[in-house]
Amino acid sequence: MAHAEAYKDPGTPDEQSRRTFMANAVIALGGVIGLGIAVPLVASLFPAAGASNDQWSSLSPDEADAFKKATNQPVRITFHVHEENGYLGGADLDEFVWGVKATEDQLKAERPELYTGDDKLPYPAVNMGFVIFSPICPHLGCKYAWNQQQNKFLCPCHGSVYSELGKHEAGPALRGLDPLPLREYQGKVQITWIEYKFNSPQLIVQKVG
Ligand code: FES
Repeated sequence: MAHAEAYKDPGTPDEQSRRTFMANAVIALGGVIGLGIAVPLVASLFPAAGASNDQWSSLSPDEADAFKKATNQPVRITFHVHEENGYLGGADLDEFVWGVKATEDQLKAERPELYTGDDKLPYPAVNMGFVIFSPICPHLGCKYAWNQQQNKFLCPCHGSVYSELGKHEAGPALRGLDPLPLREYQGKVQITWIEYKFNSPQLIVQKVG
């Protein structure tokens, strides 16, 4: 049989079912391997609350004080992130996050997706009576801001609107605001900087610390 003809030949029923079995086995094996890699990756990405590693950035004593006194309005909290760069070496960058007073029950009621299913956070979203939001708009990465008149977080780039607890209410973003880990450790208030993928309904980690 010529090569082209042999290629088109579907084979006997026995050969066909053997091929189907092999194809299914390869797909199933791929799934098992994928799961085996994905689970440890997810578990190891986030720093443990008691770990003294450099994925945690400390607030200055003044910032920590102002943060603890914050009451009924979201507060903008500045802190330093240490970044290692192949060209420039280590650098300390100023970053900020938003802190909103909340209880676990309030957040659960307004953002149930953070507690169940695929987007269940692998760290506590409420700590020290606050939820901390990444300042990066989950649509395409602009910095949104709190609007006191409207009582909403508004993104200036394409008009996404979020409630005080970060629920997506309007505009093109595909998910709500992203909570970040917070802890009080050896007298310091610390935050872990995490960048999640833009424009995705799921929380997909791009960078930690
Ligand atoms: S980047 Fe915020 S709405 Fe587009």
